[in-house]
Amino acid sequence: MTFDLQSLVRKNIRNLKPYSSARSEFEGSAEVFLDANENAFGSPAGFGLNRYPDPLQRELKDRIAAIKGVSPPQIFVGNGSDEAIDLLFRIFCEPGQDEVITCPPTYGMYRVSADINDVAVREVRLTDDFRLDVPATLAGISDATKLIFICSPNNPTGNLMSRESILEIARQFTGIVVVDEAYIDFADEPSMIAELGSFPNLVVLQTFSKAWGMAGVRVGLAFASSEIIDLMNRVKPPYNVSGLAQRAVIDALESESTVTRWITSAKLERKSLEASLSALNFVQKIYPSDANFLLVKVDDAKATYRYLIEEKIVVRDRSNVELCEGCLRITVGTSEENVRLISALSRFGSMGRKKNS
Ligand SMILES: Cc1ncc(COP(=O)(O)O)c(C=O)c1O
Repeated sequence: MTFDLQSLVRKNIRNLKPYSSARSEFEGSAEVFLDANENAFGSPAGFGLNRYPDPLQRELKDRIAAIKGVSPPQIFVGNGSDEAIDLLFRIFCEPGQDEVITCPPTYGMYRVSADINDVAVREVRLTDDFRLDVPATLAGISDATKLIFICSPNNPTGNLMSRESILEIARQFTGIVVVDEAYIDFADEPSMIAELGSFPNLVVLQTFSKAWGMAGVRVGLAFASSEIIDLMNRVKPPYNVSGLAQRAVIDALESESTVTRWITSAKLERKSLEASLSALNFVQKIYPSDANFLLVKVDDAKATYRYLIEEKIVVRDRSNVELCEGCLRITVGTSEENVRLISALSRFGSMGRKKNS
């Protein structure tokens, strides 16, 4: 069987007549805008915010296209990549009927989006060393499977998934393979975006929330064939990315060299944090990370978590997650933050020793 995009799309979406906003109907240059019922007198906040933003974020997409080596019609810009995840459900998954595959332990929003959209989730666990189980994933595919989510580098385990494994799944599956690369900037491997030309069923998600330092702005990206991106644009709310957010990211893209420096620093800090953590007596294991966080197995995750909270340091307790028992997920901070974390953990470790001695 071959990949046939139109046959995967829900009937109501295939037949959808998208909302036509004032700013998408008009193209060209004008001087007087009386088409969108905006406030012609201005905005108390200034910045031209009395006007609706570009619904298709054209200036932003032109910049991103140049950086990523794709064409603008292959880019979707969303209100965080979480919006792209939700849109993929709404485009491809018939509620109460279709299924998706996730590979836990992984990012929790795939399941939440599935639940919101009333779509069943078939979970194919990663192997004990957090690799994709390709035969089990392929065996999990049914006629109802529309999407397979692969997070690489994976949250919360931190590791990249094998490129060949992802491509093997994409080769064998006639639905959509979604590769979530929220943390790809911290990895030493290139993005899967390079594979889009050969795999029409691939969607790659990225975000400005991590390496780019723009989590508060809420801008995420999807890269795919122009046909898939067109579907996403038809289903999204007309003005899904605010003018402020578009402007902030366009400006941020001028600072690529700063971001590159931060990525280098984060990787160095990750290494030194790993070394300091491994010296602690209650740390059992630190999993290899290609992201800006470490998954760390400790003797008593809940007690460690509580102690850090008392010290006003918040990490993520992942000890209730299958395959992550006893684990905390720790984001790599600045060097000062990491020193503070390690000294708190050292105090915690010596308290334990005193109690046990
Ligand atoms: C794997 C993964 N994907 C997506 C996101 C969400 O990204 P955004 O802020 O662009 O919605 C996160 C956030 O933690 C994440 O860990």
